[in-house]
Amino acid sequence: MHKNLFSLTSILPLVFFLACTPEKHDAETREMKRFIDNLMKEMTLEEKIGQLTLYSSYMDETGPFMNEDYLDYIREGRVGAVFNAFTADYTREIQRIAVEETRLGIPLLFGYDVIHGHRTIFPMPIGETATWDMEAIKKSAQIAAREATAEGLHWTFSPMIDVTRDPRWGRIAESSGEDPFLTAEVARAKVRGYQGDDLKDLHTMLATAKHFAAYGAPQAGRDYHTVDMSEITLRNKFLPPFKATVEEGVATFMTAFNDLFAVPATGSEFLLTQILRDEWGFEGFVVTDYTSINEMVPHGFARDEKHAGKLAINAGTDMDMQGSVFYNYLAELVAEGKVSESRIDEAARRILTMKYKLGLFDDPYRYSDPEREKEMIMTAENLEFARDFARKSIVLLKNENNTLPLSDNIRSIALIGPMADNQRDLIGSWSAAGDYTKSVTLLQGLKNRLGSQTQVNYAKGTDVIGEDKSGFPQAIRAAAISDVVIMALGEHYWQSGEAASRSIIDLPGVQEDLFNEIVKLGKPVVVVLMNGRPLTIENVDAKASAILETWFLGTTAGDAIADVLFGDYNPSGKLPVTFPRNVGQIPIFYNVKNTGRPKTEFKFTSKYLDVPNTPLYPFGFGLSYTTFEYSDINLSSNQMPLDGSLNASVTVTNTGDRFGEEVVQLYIRQLVGSITRPIKELKAFEKIALEPGESREVTFELNQNHLAFYNANNEFKAEPGEFHLFIGTNSEDVKKTSFTLME
Ligand code: BGC
Repeated sequence: MHKNLFSLTSILPLVFFLACTPEKHDAETREMKRFIDNLMKEMTLEEKIGQLTLYSSYMDETGPFMNEDYLDYIREGRVGAVFNAFTADYTREIQRIAVEETRLGIPLLFGYDVIHGHRTIFPMPIGETATWDMEAIKKSAQIAAREATAEGLHWTFSPMIDVTRDPRWGRIAESSGEDPFLTAEVARAKVRGYQGDDLKDLHTMLATAKHFAAYGAPQAGRDYHTVDMSEITLRNKFLPPFKATVEEGVATFMTAFNDLFAVPATGSEFLLTQILRDEWGFEGFVVTDYTSINEMVPHGFARDEKHAGKLAINAGTDMDMQGSVFYNYLAELVAEGKVSESRIDEAARRILTMKYKLGLFDDPYRYSDPEREKEMIMTAENLEFARDFARKSIVLLKNENNTLPLSDNIRSIALIGPMADNQRDLIGSWSAAGDYTKSVTLLQGLKNRLGSQTQVNYAKGTDVIGEDKSGFPQAIRAAAISDVVIMALGEHYWQSGEAASRSIIDLPGVQEDLFNEIVKLGKPVVVVLMNGRPLTIENVDAKASAILETWFLGTTAGDAIADVLFGDYNPSGKLPVTFPRNVGQIPIFYNVKNTGRPKTEFKFTSKYLDVPNTPLYPFGFGLSYTTFEYSDINLSSNQMPLDGSLNASVTVTNTGDRFGEEVVQLYIRQLVGSITRPIKELKAFEKIALEPGESREVTFELNQNHLAFYNANNEFKAEPGEFHLFIGTNSEDVKKTSFTLME
């Protein structure tokens, strides 16, 4: 029958070859519908259910159990998609089984977690977001798609757009941090980058908005834990990035592991049908997370897997990842009248539509091309972009007495710490097909950068974890004989990411003890942090001369850090997440409510006895080697008509002596609302570049959409009243003005 499939597509009308017009688009859509209708008429119920079934290959293992027999299931024509399989040859072989050994020859869809690059690994998403550079983020997704599609992949399980305010949660590393607006902007950029304008383009792939929804708010920061919040908070803080991806035409959604409002997300009709389909009009398909249908049983929501399958499909789930629940029970459930055949048809149609859009019915092997694979992977161009992207992700947290940048004439540097010559951790978690042996360590980066006039005295000092202090004396000696000390400290890559929550988020092991010993020498100490989450580093902040937050920067990390250390690149990253002073402050985030008793020096106000309310570093914070001065804000009017707009401008001047980039951030506060409103909310930003002495006027145009929010009736609208408007260099250091939104 697969031959029939191809003959169907070969009669596509000539109009396909004409220029892109609405008429052409309509004709294509009609043709696609006709093709899928005809195909579905040929399919048995089992074959349709097969399209709703996704299995992992053994090339990578990303969940608790595997299925040995999945190749046999493919042969039965009862599998629609495979994940964790890549390379042109391997995908071609598996595709061949589907195309040549099954009755209908329907091609498989190949998915994978291409999260921050495929072979060329970019910074962890928390680091990518710190660039606040949406063009660069889009380009990173484009490059990832180029590399991944050349290895037979059609579908990435990215972007992960779970807003999170809890650095104990390991998956904060994979996220864009705490802010719904910033996360939504990143989500848009990533979807555009992966999917491009046309999914038929060989270099583009399906994107996935995950994990729907509110997975980033687990109780106590423990992964997979219960989530509970008001619908107002859900809609205003956690859903905006997901809605943004629907607006960008994202192809797929992935359900979350957690329950929300006491219903597991995978069985939530409220999330998957009411919000996603009815309110937002999403047209792609919904895949579960790894065995999350089965997990509705331990959740205590389903009696057994069959019951879970019924709940999942009827709630709006279209594809079962790895759980075999649809495979085992859907046909029975249809026979018993518990699931309608039309629901199966709807899900199968959505999945077949994506296969059609990718051109898989034209040529099922079109993405599995060994020649293209050789050409596309880790090209010099990709690596060059990766280095630039990585240095843009670095955030300068402290720079006392302009310790940085270091001078080229420095005679000796001590490089100390367990992250200094460590390749594996650099590519972080979810590093897909990344090869860590190709990553550039900081030691190597320094050697690449420095001439023979500078002596590098390297000593590991200690491990990332454990109590071993036997390396301390050597590290102290290295520091003692050097002019400057660079300490590379942090977490292992597996200490963040999935199933990697921590209850204490300081530097693990005895790294801080080593730091305390080294600073006693009185030398300038530059701390280079490598980690997947905000750490509690008050002591390091108090004693270090300079601190660079470098996250896990990917393949080119060492070169990128050297670029910043020596001033070849002036750091411009800004924190996408608040750094707490201690874990007791968590959750701590900038867009909090004022409370009825905002903090004052009096007793009965909202504060701690033992720590300030303020964070160590606020959201949006990041220093530069130059300085920027902000003028007062200029408003086009201090009244904004409800259906009109308002311009807010500031002039930013580079008052230092070197070229630099600055992220100009705009926040608002509505003073009184029908529900209590946050004391600040990011609503716009622009990254600008200024030569020394140069000034630039930055203007933001605001309309009611910037001011709207979901009220207690779940209506998204702006409410007339008084607003504060802030523009500044981070969420705390801002200029302020006010305006009124008129009736
Ligand atoms: C993760 C997902 C991922 C999936 C497939 C799950 O454990 O939660 O984010 O896409 O595995 O690897």
